[in-house]
Amino acid sequence: MSVLISDEQIEILISESEIKARINHLAKEISDTYKKSDQLVVIGLLRGSFIFIADLVRRLNLPVEVDFITVSSYGNEMESSRQVRIIKDLETSIKNRDVLVVEDIIDTGHTLAQVLQIMQTRKPKSLSVCTLLNKPSRREIEVTVRWTGFDIPDEFVIGYGIDYAQQGRNLPHIGFVHRP
Ligand code: IMP
Ligand code: MG
Repeated sequence: MSVLISDEQIEILISESEIKARINHLAKEISDTYKKSDQLVVIGLLRGSFIFIADLVRRLNLPVEVDFITVSSYGNEMESSRQVRIIKDLETSIKNRDVLVVEDIIDTGHTLAQVLQIMQTRKPKSLSVCTLLNKPSRREIEVTVRWTGFDIPDEFVIGYGIDYAQQGRNLPHIGFVHRP
């Protein structure tokens, strides 16, 4: 079922220029951290991270490889099990590589915790996380996140890659959705 979201339902939380400035800052820190590495693989979780990763890697002052992974979201009906499954795996071997996992938003933490567990079995040299958004008040499982774009309150957001029922990914900013 498709859902249309009207402009009136969206309240801008983080503007395009705020996102840009924050990514510049993150990219500097990440470039600095990995400056001695010629082994960095940046892994985006699809689909939500696609715009963030595109902007982030273009500001890294480093040689990088980029790959993507898609995992199933558990959805409401599976909320008790919280199990995620790989739908599309990496094509790159991450053994002995420096790995940076890029996520759009960390909510309960279950998705990322399981992705990191899977990545860890592949024996990377290092494994870190950069997320654009974080909802700390929603966390159910601890995950170590090295770089966070913005901490946000417990509200449903869309834009800049992040969707509501597949809508809103193409918005240049991040906004709250007021549901009617
Ligand atoms: P977690 O396993 O609860 O941390 O779920 C993380 C995933 O839920 C994110 O990668 C998003 O795909 C989705 N998600 C969580 N909060 C939001 C939101 O406010 N808007 C859109 N998607 C969200
Ligand atoms: Mg996601």
